[in-house]
Amino acid sequence: MFEIDKIYNDDALCRMPDLPDNSIDLVIADPPYGLGKDYGNDSDKLSPHNYLKWTEKWLSLVIPKIKNTGSMFIFTTWRFNPEIFSFLKTKMIMLNEIIWDRKVPSMGGSTRRFSSVHDTIGFFAKSKNYYFDLDAVRIPYDAETKKARTRSIFIGKKWLEVGYNPKDVWTVSRLHRIHSEREDHPTQKPLEIIDRMVLSCSPEDGVVLDPFAGSGTTVISCILNSRHYIAYEINPEYFQMILNRIERADSEKIFDNCIDRNDEYGEYLSRNLSQVNLIE
Ligand SMILES: C[S@@+](CC[C@H](N)C(=O)[O-])C[C@H]1O[C@@H](n2cnc3c(N)ncnc32)[C@H](O)[C@@H]1O
Repeated sequence: MFEIDKIYNDDALCRMPDLPDNSIDLVIADPPYGLGKDYGNDSDKLSPHNYLKWTEKWLSLVIPKIKNTGSMFIFTTWRFNPEIFSFLKTKMIMLNEIIWDRKVPSMGGSTRRFSSVHDTIGFFAKSKNYYFDLDAVRIPYDAETKKARTRSIFIGKKWLEVGYNPKDVWTVSRLHRIHSEREDHPTQKPLEIIDRMVLSCSPEDGVVLDPFAGSGTTVISCILNSRHYIAYEINPEYFQMILNRIERADSEKIFDNCIDRNDEYGEYLSRNLSQVNLIE
């Protein structure tokens, strides 16, 4: 049975076969990287050989579920992306290798090789006819840069008005304790990154699948950006973390919608909700 806006506390590999083929607009997959992280289970403790076999298994399950207009982002590291991308290129069209520069400060680091400070994200489409809304994620120029582009060759250029393409190196700080969105999950991704994927690669009301939901960043992005979601998370504590996050995101969304409304009822609701938020 195909139910949207649902999170399952279960193994994605057991649940994904239940999804109808060609039903998903976007997959955002942030699996264990095969580096031995502790997710409260052994999911990240496979040997390299078994890790790659497991990866091929879940990829083979998820690809048929993606619509012809759909796409997938997959987070990996340099250790395994050559093998994973080679495999995926036999099944999908590779559009980008995105580098997430985690803004790691320069402090000591490796002494026998260069310190690794990025994650690699593969961006793949099911067909040439994939959905992609660049305007939704353009980065606006600041006033100073705009002013500097006053030469006649720049006048009337759409990109100057609407902002530039975010390109394929995304410099976004990993989450620290001081970040208000931070949860107690070892590899939580910043909303800024996931929002960019959701907004550019799924239509409003589209369905986004996250097979390895962790703290639920994809789910939260979908709620805040009016997309539907389906997510799996095997660890019951992280599953509960997602439910708690959803509750907070839902009240934030109601609050934002009220602020957007200029009528008296909107004002009344936003005043009262802000009081509720303060009490909490
Ligand atoms: C890299 S983390 C995802 C982090 C997430 N993107 C976020 O922003 O919080 C991978 C998650 O996959 C979960 N996981 C591992 N194997 C799984 C499986 N077979 N099915 C569902 N979840 C799984 C782990 O418990 C972990 O929370």
